[in-house]
Amino acid sequence: MNIKLLVVTLFAILTLFACNQGVDSPQGFSLPKGNIVKGEAAFMKYQCLACHSLENYSVNRDDYELITKEFKQPIPLGGTSAVVTTYAQLVTSIINPSHKIAKKANLSEEVTNEDGSSKMRIYNDVMTVSELIDLVAFLQPKYKIKPPTYTQYNRY
Ligand code: HEC
Repeated sequence: MNIKLLVVTLFAILTLFACNQGVDSPQGFSLPKGNIVKGEAAFMKYQCLACHSLENYSVNRDDYELITKEFKQPIPLGGTSAVVTTYAQLVTSIINPSHKIAKKANLSEEVTNEDGSSKMRIYNDVMTVSELIDLVAFLQPKYKIKPPTYTQYNRY
């Protein structure tokens, strides 16, 4: 094998290896199975509806009135979202909301602060890990995985 080819091949293998096994890789990330009912309780306890609406979800009037609304137009959760297409992304958007900002085209209000960070509250010092696990179990079925976009080729 010529030496140039060998170097290129080795480089390609190393690059592939780095992608799959890098220290920052989400590979191997997994939470235990959550409890949907407890997840809904956490969703109400932390008043997520102060800023959000949730697809196909309604709460009773009394509970809803107790929530102090912080966004005139609630930010929709569930359905299809550009930043939440996997389980890991859903967890990330709760514990690190500024990682990727979910831009909602039809919103009139800014979703970020002046420094570009998310207006979403940080729950990391108050929410227990069990609550997070249950919350994700409750929210995940509300999301649809975005179908892949295929390039359209013209027919010859
Ligand atoms: C003070 C307002 C506020 C509260 C309270 C809040 N959020 Fe958010 N959240 C936001 C904003 C603003 C965004 C959009 C910007 C971003 O991506 O961080 C967002 C984005 C999200 C996203 C990603 C959006 C998408 O595309 O689907 C998820 C998931 C989410 N929030 C979950 C929660 C959960 C769960 C709670 C309750 C524990 C909560 N939020 C409470 C303001 C809030």
